[in-house]
Amino acid sequence: MEILGIDIGGSGIKGALVNVDKGEMVTERHRIPTPQPATPDAVAGVVAQIARHFSWDGLVGCTFPAIMKQGVAHSAANVDKSWIGTDAAALFQHHLDAPVWVVNDADAAGMAEMQFGAGKGRTGVIFMLTIGTGIGSAIIVDGHLLPNSELGHLQMGGIEAENFASDRVRKKEDLSWKKWTKRFNAYLQYLEFLFSPNLFILGGGVVKKWDKFSGRLSTQAAITPATLGNNAGIVGAALVASMQL
Ligand code: BGC
Repeated sequence: MEILGIDIGGSGIKGALVNVDKGEMVTERHRIPTPQPATPDAVAGVVAQIARHFSWDGLVGCTFPAIMKQGVAHSAANVDKSWIGTDAAALFQHHLDAPVWVVNDADAAGMAEMQFGAGKGRTGVIFMLTIGTGIGSAIIVDGHLLPNSELGHLQMGGIEAENFASDRVRKKEDLSWKKWTKRFNAYLQYLEFLFSPNLFILGGGVVKKWDKFSGRLSTQAAITPATLGNNAGIVGAALVASMQL
């Protein structure tokens, strides 16, 4: 089955048709810069533009970087505050005239990695962390997702983890890999103390630099890089939408 997957991020909105049985994109990615300010109506316009690009009027799965419950955004850490309380699914549906399912971005990436990537065949407690502007998290236990875990907002010494150990902070504070890894490792060890996962899957842009930091990470849980890369959001959005059928 094919579904249009759309990944809404702070700088770009990307979409592709996805074969959800194989976890593969069957078209090229189409990317449009995120409008600024990224208000609900402006973003919905771009989502509709992407659907039109693929002449698509079937089911659409969308990621959004916030707490998402039944299509409604309940937070807005790194996006326009006007999203809070917005029924994104209803808004997109109105612009597209097609059914739309909206899921948290890290939850989508986590589900995609479990089904088709680094978590394939793995059981037990698995944490997927996406490290970028913020830190996104997905908790999956024996294949079941605990949605909207938001572990990037866990406080460490009075600072939210994503304001201490995200890739944005590494760049902004011009941290050496050694210094950033020390922070990120402290975060992983804190998560391990609280939840005792069996595996951490790490995703997001920083994973392209795996060799620069992975050797310094140390947890009892296994640590592995995500394998779907930039496409995890698109594939996961389509996959999660297909599960609602
Ligand atoms: C948001 C999460 C999101 C993560 C990654 C955080 O700031 O609160 O909902 O998953 O960033 O984009």
